[in-house]
Amino acid sequence: MCGIIGVTGRPSAVDDILAGLRRLEYRGYDSSGVVAVLEDGLGVVKRSGKLDRLDAALATAPLAAATGIGHTRWATHGAPTDANAHPHLDPAGRVAVVHNGIIENYRALRDDLAGAAFTSDTDTEVVAHLVARELDGPDGVDLLEAVRRVSGRLEGAYALCVVSADEPDTIVVARRQAPLIVAAVDGVGLCASDVAALIEHTDTCAALLDGQLARIRPDGYTVVDADGTAAAADEFTVDWDLSSAEKQGYEHFMLKEIHEQPVAVAETLLGRDDGAGNVTLDELRIDPSELARIDKVFILAAGTSLHAGMAGKLAIEHWAGVPVEVEVASEFRYRDPIVTDRTLVIAISQSGETTDTIAAAEHARAQGAPVIAISNVVGSTLARAADGVLYTRAGPEIAVASTKAFTTQIVACLVLALHLAQRKERLFASEARDVLDRLDTLPALVQRVVADDTAVLAAAERFKDVGYTMFIGRHGGLPIAYEGALKLKEVSYLHAEAFPAGEMKHGPIALIEPGSLVVAVAHDGHVFAKMVSNIQEVRARGASVLAVATASSRDALAEHADVVLTVPDAPHELAAPLLTVLPLQLYAYHVAVLRGADVDQPRNLAKTVTVE
Ligand code: G6P
Repeated sequence: MCGIIGVTGRPSAVDDILAGLRRLEYRGYDSSGVVAVLEDGLGVVKRSGKLDRLDAALATAPLAAATGIGHTRWATHGAPTDANAHPHLDPAGRVAVVHNGIIENYRALRDDLAGAAFTSDTDTEVVAHLVARELDGPDGVDLLEAVRRVSGRLEGAYALCVVSADEPDTIVVARRQAPLIVAAVDGVGLCASDVAALIEHTDTCAALLDGQLARIRPDGYTVVDADGTAAAADEFTVDWDLSSAEKQGYEHFMLKEIHEQPVAVAETLLGRDDGAGNVTLDELRIDPSELARIDKVFILAAGTSLHAGMAGKLAIEHWAGVPVEVEVASEFRYRDPIVTDRTLVIAISQSGETTDTIAAAEHARAQGAPVIAISNVVGSTLARAADGVLYTRAGPEIAVASTKAFTTQIVACLVLALHLAQRKERLFASEARDVLDRLDTLPALVQRVVADDTAVLAAAERFKDVGYTMFIGRHGGLPIAYEGALKLKEVSYLHAEAFPAGEMKHGPIALIEPGSLVVAVAHDGHVFAKMVSNIQEVRARGASVLAVATASSRDALAEHADVVLTVPDAPHELAAPLLTVLPLQLYAYHVAVLRGADVDQPRNLAKTVTVE
């Protein structure tokens, strides 16, 4: 979590830092701060609360400097107060550090600095003290070497960005298990947690690898390995432009991103057939014969990506005929999963930077399992670590509540399921081609749903004050029940839970009473009749029912539900989740807006979870 940006070589670096922090706010937004390297030392401004507070403080006391670093925080150690906001300085105010991650041994390091006065409760402050001590040491080391030596003493995960009053045009960064990119353009050196913060400056960046450090100056950057030897920069080109990271007239990023789904889905489907009916991935660094041998699949992910994986499981089992387990990434690596070289791990992560998902994938890879990543960020840590990648081409997703990433992840899962089925010789090229042709109709169907949200808005107005909502579904409707409940709780703070409809009678139905609200995801297909029975059961006990139907299931549902939100029939039953989720994204959005919640930055959450 937390966003970092550094700029050196601009007349007013702090303005650029603030603009970059705005684009990084989705990584955390409970406090923020900047430090500028002024002629007479370091100038620091930091504030608890949203970035606007920092902006206002800087408007009254501007910091004019060519070099500076900034931070937007999601608190891990220490409450989100002014004192705990980054940057953190050494006692002499000569070294400033911003940090994303957790320094796990910070207490021991603090104890080693016996007698030093600390001004915050954070794990980060100790790093500033240690770097200053190295600079003051007998060897007369420079900032890069000082940070390198300190990094060697740190345990845990970090992306560190450090400036010193002694080297006014230098920024030093260090990375371990937290993303960091660097760039240089026209006499300006830059670094940030991710490309979103830098796209207004350049589309060419380099990602630091684990353990690497970099010295950034206006005339460029140098990268070194953990032992200090020079390393080649791993450059890549970003294919997003600035406009795609801005709101473009929408009131919220979440709404904008809901409306971007037709294009995102179309882009993700683009060019998946090599012309001969073979379904292709974007990168494959494993022998196709290895995939043919796969006898088990684990799908590992967190949050919304996990729900996309649940829909993916159905497709892989159906087409590829391989058993699939979907598991929360944070659980997978702390048990003893049975993984062999015939186990395929599919790690799904919009950001490609979720710590638990990366660690789970690495855990499986260490046991010989090939890993395929589904990620929305080219060059993300997960994408680089995997043996194969399928990119969701959704463009930057800024709203914390994930929408277009979800639908494109389902598309990616369908494509991957077809790919696996072909590797296992369970699907002729003509059959795969036929499915892809049918999937190609999805963007227009998605467009039809998001273009008219009148009925969803009316439902949101009717049910916006219901304190507890139960979501139910079966088969492809179940991941959507989970995702619908997650969306609602994330952005509206209303209590919502999802259950397999068939499980209701084993407990959850006891919660139903007159006034309860049940959202039932009931597209047409082989479990539809059973869904109707489950809907009748909750309605008989007094619940209001908000049903999500497909065109063919609508009429049969109408007499059993209070409100029916209808989406077009899907081109394939396995693609239905991609359509049925849309009204629920819009429902959560409208309920949140009607309740006055902060849609794009819900309390306590962050977009990218880079701590365990
Ligand atoms: C956070 C975000 C969710 C996201 C999840 C997984 O919880 O708020 O929207 O689904 O992380 O993120 P990933 O980038 O790995 O898909």
